[in-house]
Amino acid sequence: MKFFADTAEISEIRDLVETGLLDGVTTNPSLVQKSGRDFIEVLKEITKICPGPVSAEVVALDYDGMMAQAEKLRGVADNVTIKVPLTEAGLKTCRSLSNDGTMVNVTLCFSAAQALLAAKAGATFISPFVGRLDDIGHSGMELISDIRMIYDNYDFETQILVASVRSPMHVVEAAKIGADVMTAPPKIIHQLFKHPLTDAGLAAFLKDWESTGQKI
Ligand code: E4P
Repeated sequence: MKFFADTAEISEIRDLVETGLLDGVTTNPSLVQKSGRDFIEVLKEITKICPGPVSAEVVALDYDGMMAQAEKLRGVADNVTIKVPLTEAGLKTCRSLSNDGTMVNVTLCFSAAQALLAAKAGATFISPFVGRLDDIGHSGMELISDIRMIYDNYDFETQILVASVRSPMHVVEAAKIGADVMTAPPKIIHQLFKHPLTDAGLAAFLKDWESTGQKI
């Protein structure tokens, strides 16, 4: 399973790149707003720090506008993935860009039908938002299972990128289903390392070692 960081904060991305476990980055207009940075400048920096796919989202609603913005964004670096919303114009843009060899991440997916359309439009990634579905009393993970089954039935190559991840359990459940990628806020990725028994075990080992008076 590939791990993407869902952030536009440079220091957080740098920290995760240093772990050797980061495969890519996703941003969205809200994350850019939160960073307080100029979009193109921060995108340029992220693409230099992280060699994997870096999703940058268009904000136009019509096909011509999305294509014009995609052109500008993909000019920033070769690893930019154009993020388009799951609308008719978004999928039309997805088809044109993927015909051109550009990576496309179709975002704001909340149903299996939408995921099927995105795969038919040639999306590189489909982003189902599990946390936001859970928030309204639906099962985000059930959607991931449904998409996995549909994509496997037809050998679609579109990668399932589990988004709106809110806990380490979301990551584990998505991995059990066989999702290709997950994107999570850095805080959640750091939580994956943690277990209280690891901390307690380590403390006990170090205490016993100290009492031997030895050095390595
Ligand atoms: C994915 O690409 C989105 O940026 C993100 O996962 C949305 O997450 P949220 O529901 O926590 O805002």
